[in-house]
Amino acid sequence: VTAVQAPLREQVLAEVRHVSRLPGIRLSLDSTLAEAGIDSLGRMELLAVLEGRFHVRLPESLGPELQTINDVAGAVADYVGRQQTSGCNGHCSETDANDVPAEQYEIARFPEWTSLRRDAQRLELLGGSNPYFQVQEVLPGRRVRLDGHELIDFASYDYLGLAAEPRVAAAAKRAIDRYGTSVSGSRLVSGERSLHQELEQSLAHWLGTQEALAFVSGHATNVTTIGHLLGPGDLVLHDALAHNSIVQGCRLSGARRLAFPHNDPDALDRLLTSLRRHYRRALVAIEGLYSMDGDVPDLPRFVEIKRRHKALLLVDEAHSLGVLGKSGRGIGEQCDVAPGDVDLWMGTLSKALASCGGYIAGRRELVQYLKYTAPGFVYSVGISPANAAAALEALRLLEAEPRRLQTLRERARSFLSLAERRGLDVGSCEDAPVVPIRVGDPARCLRLWRALVDRGILAQPILPPAVPAASSRLRFFVTATHSAQQVREAVSILVEEFGKSARDILPAAAS
Ligand SMILES: Cc1ncc(COP(=O)(O)O)c(C=O)c1O
Repeated sequence: VTAVQAPLREQVLAEVRHVSRLPGIRLSLDSTLAEAGIDSLGRMELLAVLEGRFHVRLPESLGPELQTINDVAGAVADYVGRQQTSGCNGHCSETDANDVPAEQYEIARFPEWTSLRRDAQRLELLGGSNPYFQVQEVLPGRRVRLDGHELIDFASYDYLGLAAEPRVAAAAKRAIDRYGTSVSGSRLVSGERSLHQELEQSLAHWLGTQEALAFVSGHATNVTTIGHLLGPGDLVLHDALAHNSIVQGCRLSGARRLAFPHNDPDALDRLLTSLRRHYRRALVAIEGLYSMDGDVPDLPRFVEIKRRHKALLLVDEAHSLGVLGKSGRGIGEQCDVAPGDVDLWMGTLSKALASCGGYIAGRRELVQYLKYTAPGFVYSVGISPANAAAALEALRLLEAEPRRLQTLRERARSFLSLAERRGLDVGSCEDAPVVPIRVGDPARCLRLWRALVDRGILAQPILPPAVPAASSRLRFFVTATHSAQQVREAVSILVEEFGKSARDILPAAAS
């Protein structure tokens, strides 16, 4: 380390400490970014901070080869040196545009694209076929046709089977006849319809909140709500397994974002104890039912912690609404938490409610504030009549016909207990219709997926980067429209093929 470089390295270390803000962790130049609690998104935040600090343009990402803080400092020193040599210093003249390399303006040469293409080729090599974007034809009886081949479908989250329910389809058709296919405007100006108000009132009534607001997409609901309520100087602490939409909302907000270990309220408590006082608002974001692991949070504990630290709590009920709780009202009902104890109840209309869209339910002030100011609501078209009507009818059926929920529970329990009894690893899944079957190795996971498809069972392989490589899994969504026989058949085939997949030799390894 030269005399010139030493201060730069110390400055980089200081910036990493700032981005990390993990209490009680002593960081040195030899610490890794992972030890500093900086994940792939944290790396992008650090990149932006370093660019601002050193007035240089750094590469698009801090690649995985940069493991330690020292590695990052070395890369920054390199870039600073190069810019000083070129005399450009971030302010190149217009004539320098001739020197812009093709990777910076030809999309086909963007490093992100070339790396995606490499990943896709690797997937094909490992599994022999691509599990993504497979065109399916939906058939009755929880079946789909794929490449002319009929399969039992365990890959879709139509938990209550309402997406194929004729009364839901009829409601959507009536809405099109009455309101047209689009409301053709933001609701704030020309797009408001009585159907929107009916849907929101029903959601609020069902959930026991003062009001609710419907958005056109579940993902956009989280992004725009979190991005809008929080800002620089605020703190968001989210479960390490939180959905991408929560993380994207945090990034948009500019708030300090930290992940706490999955389902670990004690870790959250410790983080809030050391960090809360440094920030204006603090938001805790968790899910009602985690869609990769099928486990649930200890909601009363999270409520107690958020209250004590004067933080806000968002619970994403994408997979728990219509699934958990005696009458399907979600994790709050299951844990006997009063609706007013959670600040933001977020949910999607695309799972149990068989439609498309999302909602935020909570206090009147929150909903009215979002309704008049959240960019993803104000500057976006109102939810389509067909989607609003489908969700509304699904909600009515959920309330009127509790047998669907009972069947869902019976099928989920049966799948889980059969799988456990036959020795399959279901991880931390708890009495839920999301059942992960842990496989471990991604290549084996893909082979097992293919073998199941060949035997008429469709489940989703979950591979890196969605989960760490060592916890690659096949995920089964059990629904109320699976028959008891389909569940038994699926587990039995799964057990047979799981055993075989351990013995199979990889084509690549054999050659
Ligand atoms: C936890 C969670 N939140 C939000 C979303 C986004 O919802 P949508 O797919 O309805 O946009 C999903 C989607 O799977 C999800 O699992």
